[in-house]
Order: sequence, then C-alpha cells, then structure tokens
Amino acid sequence: MALFLRLLRFTHRYRAGLIFAIALVFLTTGLSLVPPYFTRLLVDSVITRFHTLDAAARDAARPEALHLLGVVCGSLLAIHLALAMVGYTRSMTLVIIGNRVVFDIRQQLYRHLQRLSLRYFERHSTGRIMTRILYDVNAVQQTLTGNLVDIVTNSLTVIFVLGLIFWINYRLALIAVGILPVYVLNFLLWRPHMRKAYTEAREQYSEISGRLHESISGIRVIKSFTRERSEVRRFVHEVRDIIDLSIRAGRYRTLLSVISSLLTGLATVLVLYLGGREVVVSGRMTFGQLMQFNAYLAMLYSPIIALVRVNDQIQYAMAAIERIFDLFDTSPGIQEPQDAVVLDRIEGKVELRHVDFSYEPTEDVLEDINLVAEPGQVTALVGRSGSGKTTLVHLIPRFYDPARGQLLVDDVDLREVQISSLRKQIGMVMQENFLFEGALRDNIKYGRPEASDSEVVQAAIAANAHEFITEFPDSYETRVGERGTRLSGGQRQRIAIARALLRNPRILILDEATSDLDSESEALIQDALEHLMKGRTTFIIAHRLSTVMNADLILVLDKGKIVERGTHAELATAGGIYEMLCEVQFKRAAEKIAEHEAARTADNYG
Ligand SMILES: Nc1ncnc2c1ncn2[C@@H]1O[C@H](COP(=O)(O)OP(=O)(O)O)[C@@H](O)[C@H]1O
Ligand SMILES: [Mg+2]
Repeated sequence: MALFLRLLRFTHRYRAGLIFAIALVFLTTGLSLVPPYFTRLLVDSVITRFHTLDAAARDAARPEALHLLGVVCGSLLAIHLALAMVGYTRSMTLVIIGNRVVFDIRQQLYRHLQRLSLRYFERHSTGRIMTRILYDVNAVQQTLTGNLVDIVTNSLTVIFVLGLIFWINYRLALIAVGILPVYVLNFLLWRPHMRKAYTEAREQYSEISGRLHESISGIRVIKSFTRERSEVRRFVHEVRDIIDLSIRAGRYRTLLSVISSLLTGLATVLVLYLGGREVVVSGRMTFGQLMQFNAYLAMLYSPIIALVRVNDQIQYAMAAIERIFDLFDTSPGIQEPQDAVVLDRIEGKVELRHVDFSYEPTEDVLEDINLVAEPGQVTALVGRSGSGKTTLVHLIPRFYDPARGQLLVDDVDLREVQISSLRKQIGMVMQENFLFEGALRDNIKYGRPEASDSEVVQAAIAANAHEFITEFPDSYETRVGERGTRLSGGQRQRIAIARALLRNPRILILDEATSDLDSESEALIQDALEHLMKGRTTFIIAHRLSTVMNADLILVLDKGKIVERGTHAELATAGGIYEMLCEVQFKRAAEKIAEHEAARTADNYG
C-alpha cells in the first residue's frame, strides 16, 4: 500500500486528468446499465401490449406502437453513441496520462542511473538494469491505467447490477447469487495451476534468453570448437520444455474459460426457467423484466472474475514497482558536498596520502599508497597484472573513494570537489576503448560536443588518425559500432587518443594504451601519445619499457603496495622487480633482433 501511494505521487501532476477519467469511468459504467432497461420498456410497453390486442385494435394502435418503437430504439442508439464517445475520451485520457507517467519515471530513473557509482554497475548485470528501465516501468502504466480502471469499473458494475437484479426480483436474484460461489470456486481451483505453469514458463524463457545471449556473444568459440550441433541440441531441448509448459498453462486457461461459460449458461437457463415460471405461473414478473434480468445477469459474473484476476496482476506489477523504487533508493555512492569546490583550469598536481582501498571489505587491493605528481610530470606504474595499477588510477577521477587516506588535486581534497569539474580535467585512454555507435566525428567530439570540425581534424592529425580516417569513403562520417565499420585495435586506440586530445585535459591517464598492438600501430600510437602527454600530468601504465623509461617517476606496485620508486636509471640496477622486468624485456628484444638478423642473413643468401 505504501508502495502504491508512492506510485501515486508520480501522478500528482496529472491529478486533474485522472479525476476526469475516473468520472468518465463512472459515467460509462452507469450508461452501460441503461440498455437492458430500454429492452424491458420495448418488450413490456410496446411489443407485449401490442400483441395482446385483437386485429381491429392493432390497426388503431399501430402508429403509436411504431412511434414508441422509434423512441426506444432511438434512445438506445443515442446511449450507444454516447458510450462510444465517452469511452474513447476516457481511454485516451488514461493512455496519455499513463504514457506521461511512464516517461517521467523512465527519465528520472535514467538520470538516477547515470549518477550511480561504478560499483553498482559491477554488482548488477546489464540485462537486469535494462529490464528495470524498459519493462518494469511498463508495469507502472499497466497498473495505473489498466488495473486501476478495471477495479473501479468492475466494482461499480457488480454493485449496481446486484442492486438492480434484487430490485427487479429478489427471489431470482438470490438464485443468481447462489451460483456465484461455484463460479469463483472454479476460478480459484485453476488459478494456482495456471500461475505455476506461467511462472515456470517465464523462468524458462529468461534462462533461454540468457543462454541465447551467451551463445551469440560466444559464437566464435562455438565455431572454433565446432560445437554447433550440441548447442542446437541443447537449445531445442530447452525450447521443448517451454512448449510443454505453455501447453499446460493453455490447457488450464481453456478449461477455466469453458467451465465458466458452462456455468454462465447453466445460470441463465436456471433463471430463464424459474423466471419463466414467475412470469407464467405467479405473474410476479413481466416478460420484459425477465429479459432485463437476464441481460444484467450476463454483466455480473465476468466482472467478479476480472476483479480476482486484477488482484493477481497488481501483485505481479507491484513486484516490478518495488524493483523500480529499489533502484531509485540506491544511493549514488560517490557524493559531493553542497558547497563543493568547482575546479577551474587546474595546474595538475596530484597527490595521494596513505591511501588504502578495497573492493570487498575482506581484501585490500591498495595499501598505504603515497605519491606526488607535479604538474606536467609523467608517472609510470609498473607491476604484475592484478597488482592494483588500474585501481590506483581509477581513484583519481573519483570512480571510487579510498577506504582510508586522501587524494588531492592542486592541494584540494577530492571529497570537497565538484565531481564533474574534476572529471572535465581528466582524459583517459585505456586498453579497450569504447566507441559509441555513430559517426567517427561524433566519437571524437564525445568529450567536447561544441568542438569545431577543424579542431576535430587537428586532434585526429595529432593522434595519427587523420590518415586512416580520410581513407574511408565516408571519412569523418564513417559509422562505427555494432552495425558500422570495424576498426582495428590500433585504429580504435587512435580515435580514443584524438577524443582525449580534443578535450585538452590537464591530467592524463593511459592504462595499457599500447598493449596488444602490432609494432607498426604501436609506433604510430607511441608518437600520438607523446603529443597527448605534452605539458600534462600523466599517469601511464605500460608493460613495455620503451614507454616507461622516460617517465619522471617510476612506481613499481606489488600486491597493492609501492615497492620501488625512482627513475629508470635508479631502478634499472637496483636489484628489484624493475630490474627483473628490464632483463626479461631486453632478452625478448635481443631475441627479436637476433631473429631479424637471421631473417636478413637468410634473405641475403636466398
Ligand atoms: N571491479 C572490481 N571488483 C572487485 N575486484 C576487483 C575489481 N577490479 C579489480 N579487482 C581486483 O583488484 C586487484 C587489482 O586489480 P587491477 O587494479 O585491475 O590490477 P592491474 O591493473 O594492476 O592488473 C585484482 O586482484 C583484481 O582481481
Ligand atoms: Mg589493469
């Protein structure tokens, strides 16, 4: 109930429209009860009366009877027209309000989602988050417009119809009401079976959709291990389960509706028989009243079942609504104070003081990190994979807050800084850079949409990307992403560098930006990175010594601790991890040179 009230708050802006719609609901329900009354008038006052006259009197009475017939049918026609118009207005009002509310919620939900910390996205699957925003929100619309109206309409109908049939003939009404429990019982009998089958089918569906998602993403693995046939077999097997469940659910639904119709039929027959006796034997009822009674009876049972069914739907919808509010109630995690410091163009000094960090409370990922990077300095981070390099640089844009210790930019504590003003000063190029579906130009401009075309070209030139871009037929308008041109790793990397360059950040974070590239791309990217790093405080994570050697400061991380620090000259002979790394790489380089030499020699002789 609290949930429902909270939901109603979203309709606050539309309450006038909602009240109007509910008023129209009353009107349509009322109007729909009128036609049976006119039927009775027609039968009793026109047809029956005319029928009882003898031939001569009929001739005399004919004009008046025809006139009355016209009036009654005309009124009926008017009522049906009114019902159509009011019904249309009511439905459209609700459709519009429902969609507006859904729009409001979806918009607020997405805005909230964008503010959530990375931790949230690490803990929740993409599919699940998407379901919240796309499907769960729809449940709101269904509840607010569909179900709410159903409840009002059906309750009103039941109350009025009961009143009317008791007013017409309470003895018959008692019989009609007597059948009701059987009717409801029948529904309650099938409901758990139906529910179970549907729930199982739904679970099976989500299982299959997860599996499908996996097998499509992993299609290369399937093909390379030639597992297509077994994948097909598994899929067919699971889909067959769904068939069985769906057929079972369908059988229950069919049985329910057939038995319901049968019961309605029985009730009608019973009422006709007993009512007929009332008309013929006791005369306590006119023929017209019997017809009217029967018409109302047909309006009695289905609303009652609808009410039970609506209850189910609302329970289902409430689960969805609860999930939506859960998302709304998730705190953004990374907070900024009310009077946050807005950073203007910063110098670019970065300092970490006694920083500890962990993703899970039990496991320390960073321990007592201390470092100072002066404006324009290049700091290199090296260390084994998993030693915490990426984690460390992610603290600088405040993707996460440290458990203990302090981070400062230009001597201001990050916790006092307006986050967006901080992130505007930071450019990141990573090993895998995400490009959005769309034109290359727009991808480069992503961090500064107001940049001019010539600025885009300049950035692309500096990033060594201009050349390959202009080789595409569509040049800067070439589309990338899902349905666009495929770019090689090195090309994506250079687009990402152009994107970072255009933003002109004071602090630059390069996380393995040159890994996994062929040597030609690497040279081009190395060159592009030199451009990018010029005059910026840079943190660079790299495996290759060539990238690290020239850094002003090299930090070696091991298991979350800085175990060595110094310049290349100092560390290369210090006998630590860095020296080992150097040796490994020199050996590799030497092997490469030897290979190269051998190939040349072979060429000369060949
Ligand atoms: N999002 C995350 N959630 C939980 N643990 C993580 C997450 N990212 C990294 N880790 C863990 O933190 C440690 C450091 O990882 P990372 O900073 O990525 O190392 P590196 O970049 O040096 O390879 C690893 O043990 C890794 O498993
Ligand atoms: Mg990493």
